[in-house]
Amino acid sequence: MSFLVSWWYPSLAPSSSSSPSSIASDKLPSPSSLPPPPPPTTGEELQAAWTSLLEEGGGEWPPNPDFTDWPPVLERLHHLALEMGPRTGVVDPSTLGQRDVDANRAWLVQGLAGTDEIVDALRSLDQRRLCAVSACVAWLCHYYRWGTTPVLTCAQQETQSHLPAPLTAAMAYLNLRLGILSTGGSLTTMVYHNYDVHLDRLHYSLVEHLGDARIYSSELWMSKLFAQMERIALPLFGACIRLASDLDAGTDSEAMVEANDAIRSAFSFGHRHMREGTVNRDTWARYVGGFFAWSWDGCPGASGSQSFLIQCIDALLGIPLTAPRTHLTSHQRRFVEALRDAQLRQRANAGASPLAAKSLDETARILKTWRLGHIRRAIYYEDVDLPERKPTIGRFGVDADRGLAVMLARMTARLRDRITVTM
Ligand code: HEM
Repeated sequence: MSFLVSWWYPSLAPSSSSSPSSIASDKLPSPSSLPPPPPPTTGEELQAAWTSLLEEGGGEWPPNPDFTDWPPVLERLHHLALEMGPRTGVVDPSTLGQRDVDANRAWLVQGLAGTDEIVDALRSLDQRRLCAVSACVAWLCHYYRWGTTPVLTCAQQETQSHLPAPLTAAMAYLNLRLGILSTGGSLTTMVYHNYDVHLDRLHYSLVEHLGDARIYSSELWMSKLFAQMERIALPLFGACIRLASDLDAGTDSEAMVEANDAIRSAFSFGHRHMREGTVNRDTWARYVGGFFAWSWDGCPGASGSQSFLIQCIDALLGIPLTAPRTHLTSHQRRFVEALRDAQLRQRANAGASPLAAKSLDETARILKTWRLGHIRRAIYYEDVDLPERKPTIGRFGVDADRGLAVMLARMTARLRDRITVTM
């Protein structure tokens, strides 16, 4: 930061000859000498960003991973991930302790012996298989990180990552290839790549083996909600590109009318299914939520705040960001940034585009209504005291020591801030 200040204000840079009087106003760059702001992203550029995003996801959005025909060393990882769920998950956490964490980790380390060629095998993968393997590796890392399901306080107390070397190498390679800026799993790798829309099931599960329909429903539906809301909202992304092209051509646009219908349907799907009977509070909090929180090395865990859909709508409307986009892949991030740089709302409001401006105001109302509903649900699902562990909320697992009431108050304030800026 100080570097930037020095660059703009050379007289502030450390120098033997500098004195207070040298900070003269005639040395500051005048507005007319500043470089002009870059032109807004065009519809064509947005289309190019969208095409790259589809390629990154194996040809589709949400992504379309391929879990078949992996090289043998990666098949081994797949089987370890399938076995790790039943090994680490139990119904009653009162019997679990550090020795279980240690034993499960030791089992995984043993299973990983002789897998030095993992990174070579990863290099050989096409994009669909790369997405699938990223789910496998992210799940293995989280299995190792927590050691048990439900998550225990003794594992939460560890703050430095000490993953087995093959997992560290594989995760680093995959996150680099996908452009994810986190050491752990992300919404993309843990959720979008793990839910199979055709079979309506998860490839890797924490709790399916427990045979308890309520517990599995909470796990399945959390991932299904994220993936299906993206799918239902798909017309939004094409509409943004059409809107940009219409504004580039200097014409008004009805593109957002169809997009608003799609967003409404996605949100109503979310609200309809984020409730007891589908996602059950006691089972979600205990068996699902904590596992996705990474909270090692100060890295935030997977959270709704990294949802691609919501980040796109925020960018489209010019709503300021709060969360850094460390969990987005490079092409997700590029599309969100391109959408923000297209300044569609600003241009619609400034020009002769009353239809576009009106429909974007409607988008903002729809988003605000969703946020008002989501804050109630977020508080409901997080307000659970679990004796076996400290409270953890995806993004802020590292604050767990402050207790449930403080955690809830901080979370509520954050969510209220998002509501306030949604206009
Ligand atoms: C089982 C389902 C879900 C639960 C229990 C849940 C819970 C939560 C909680 C506790 C927070 C606060 C996190 C924090 O401040 O770090 C939150 C935030 C958020 N969630 Fe969810 N969520 C769920 C599903 C979803 C889905 C499906 C989406 C979107 C597709 C979503 C989008 C968001 C967003 C964008 C935020 C950040 C606040 C904002 O921008 O308004 N969540 N959620």
